Amino acid sequence: MENTSVLEPGRTLGVIGAGVMGTTLIKGLLDAGLVTRPQIWATARTEQTCTEVAADLGIATQRDYREIAETSGIILVCCKPAQIATICEKLREAHLRPDTLLISILAGVTLERLQSLLPGIWIRSVPNTPCVVREGMTVVCAGSLATSSHLEIAERIFRSVGTCLTVEENYCNAVTALSGSGPAYMYLVVEALADAGVRVGLRREMALTLVAQTMLGSAKMVLETGRHPASLRDDVTTPAGCTIGGLLMLEDGKIRSVLARAVEEATRIVEHLGKPAKH
Ligand SMILES: NC(=O)c1ccc[n+]([C@@H]2O[C@H](COP(=O)([O-])OP(=O)(O)OC[C@H]3O[C@@H](n4cnc5c(N)ncnc54)[C@H](OP(=O)(O)O)[C@@H]3O)[C@@H](O)[C@H]2O)c1
Repeated sequence: MENTSVLEPGRTLGVIGAGVMGTTLIKGLLDAGLVTRPQIWATARTEQTCTEVAADLGIATQRDYREIAETSGIILVCCKPAQIATICEKLREAHLRPDTLLISILAGVTLERLQSLLPGIWIRSVPNTPCVVREGMTVVCAGSLATSSHLEIAERIFRSVGTCLTVEENYCNAVTALSGSGPAYMYLVVEALADAGVRVGLRREMALTLVAQTMLGSAKMVLETGRHPASLRDDVTTPAGCTIGGLLMLEDGKIRSVLARAVEEATRIVEHLGKPAKH
C-alpha cells in the first residue's frame, strides 16, 4: 500500500517551484515509488532552473504550465509565499479538473487565502529542510473541501521525506516557528557547542562530529523511548558529576526562556508572512 502510486491512472503530479523544497519532494516521491518519472512535471520562474531540473531529475519541465496542468491529479505549490497570487491566477487559466488535490508548502499562507485565490481542494503543509536528508518534520492540515483520503495522500507524500502529522490549521504558525525554523536553532546550538569543544582543546572537525552525532542520538532517544527528556537527562546526571555542573551553567544563562522567546518571536513574525503585500 505504502509504495503504490498516489495518482489515479492517466493523471500527473505537478510541482510549481522546483527549488530546494520542490526538488527534494520530487526525489522523495520518485525513490518511494509514489510516482513514476513520466507522471511528474515541474516548473520554475526561469528557463535555466527548468533546464537544470529536467537534466538532473529526468522529468518534464515547462515554464508555461497552463496546458500540462490540466491532467494533474495533484499539484504541489512550492514557490515563495509572495508568488502565490500569480501562480493561482495561472492555475485558474489552466482549467484544472475539480478533483485536483492542491498542496501548498508556503509558510504563513492560510487555507482561507489559498481558497480565495483559487477555489479547490487545498491542503496546507509545513515541512522543514531536513526533508533533504529524508528526516523532515512536516505537518499537514485540511482545507474545507479536503477529505481524510486527501490527507492520507498528503501524508504519504511527506512521509517519503521524513515524518508527517495531521494537525488543525490554528497550530500552523506555531509549527512553522518551532519545526519549520527549528533546524536553524539546532544549527546554532551545534555551532556553539562545537566552539565550546574547541575552547576545551578539541579540533573543530572532531568537535562538530561529536556534537552533531550527540544531537542525532539524543533526538532518537526521545523519539524511540518515548520517555520525558527530563528523565533521560537524569540518567546522564550523576551526583556531584560534571553534567550537573554544565546544566546549572545553562540554566544560569536562562536557556529555557531564551528558547521560548525565540519561538514566540518567530510565531509573531510568521503571522504576517503570507499576507498580501500592501500597496
Ligand atoms: N527552505 C525552508 O526552510 C523551507 C521549509 C519549509 C517550507 N518552506 C517553504 O517552501 C517554499 C519554497 O522554499 P525553497 O527554499 O524551496 O525556495 P527556492 O529554493 O527559492 O525555490 C523556489 C522556486 O520557485 C520558483 N518560482 C518562483 N516564482 C515562480 C513562479 N511565478 N512560477 C513558478 N515557479 C516560481 C523558483 O524558480 P527559479 O529557480 O527559476 O527562480 C524556484 O525554483 C517557500 O514558500 C517556503 O515558505 C521552506
